[in-house]
Amino acid sequence: MLKPKKLAKKNFLSGLDLSTEEFLHILELASVFKNKKINIDLDNKVLGLIFDKSSTRTRVSFQVAMTRLGGTTIDLNPTTSQIERGEPIKDTARVLSRYCDVIAIRTFDHSNLEEYAKWSTKPVINALTDLEHPCQALADFLTIKEEFLDFKEVVLTFIGDGNNVANSLILCGALLGVEVRIACPKGYEPNSLVINKAYEIYKNKNLLKITNDPNSAVLGANVLYTDVWSSMGEENQKDEKEKVFNGFTIDSDLVSKAAKDAIILHCLPAYRSKEITDEIFESHKSRIFDQAENRLHAQQALLSCILQ
Ligand code: CP
Ligand code: NVA
Repeated sequence: MLKPKKLAKKNFLSGLDLSTEEFLHILELASVFKNKKINIDLDNKVLGLIFDKSSTRTRVSFQVAMTRLGGTTIDLNPTTSQIERGEPIKDTARVLSRYCDVIAIRTFDHSNLEEYAKWSTKPVINALTDLEHPCQALADFLTIKEEFLDFKEVVLTFIGDGNNVANSLILCGALLGVEVRIACPKGYEPNSLVINKAYEIYKNKNLLKITNDPNSAVLGANVLYTDVWSSMGEENQKDEKEKVFNGFTIDSDLVSKAAKDAIILHCLPAYRSKEITDEIFESHKSRIFDQAENRLHAQQALLSCILQ
């Protein structure tokens, strides 16, 4: 029977905190959890959840994952804890380390997450920052693996804002040898440090392309992926971004240029008729709700490796 293996690094702040082998191990383990072929008892271990931004999928899937693993969660809402009052992260982190066995954090600046990780004696998990969303990427590549057997044969095209979700797809895609194409408007390209790191990992540099042309980016692609144009915290840019992102909607015209077997992914929540049409969102090609379900299985696998 497959058993959770201890990860080399304490924290999961970035997709690159896992080696390729560890990433594949978590995906394999996630499938075993999904098929209910494994039983892990974490003996009441506690996951602390700090969410500075809203969340449905990440929060609930972490809570259900811990319950299924025989552990529990504490939801540390910043408004009802001393976090919003401005207690220094280094103090909060040291206190929570005395109560919790692992802490998942959703916050704005990635440097805040790194500060928590620096002061916490317990593992810290990135539940989304402005730079990365690596837990999402675990579920994304699990969903892709369920459809296409060999990552090295997959072309993944992301159309939209080169933000946290795109950054994690790039880094994890590089780890797995997936061809990743990002199509975004000029000025909305992914983080340049992320792009450079990915190029260092890819053996074949042609496997990562950043373009401003969605039509060429989708040609022959197996996976079309999108995310909201305005992320949490960017609400004031909504009107401007809707103008700039005109032409970057995943619609039937773009889908017709992709591979015949192409699937559609979206991390959710979605704005229909903005980044994706309702027709494509609801089409037989959509694996969006399998992807959302896979958050649970992937995080069960991740937690069982971190806490074993
Ligand atoms: N995809 C995702 O992280 O969703 P939530 O914001 O609902 O957690
Ligand atoms: N890019 C989005 C992802 C939400 C899951 C955001 O940061 O709001």
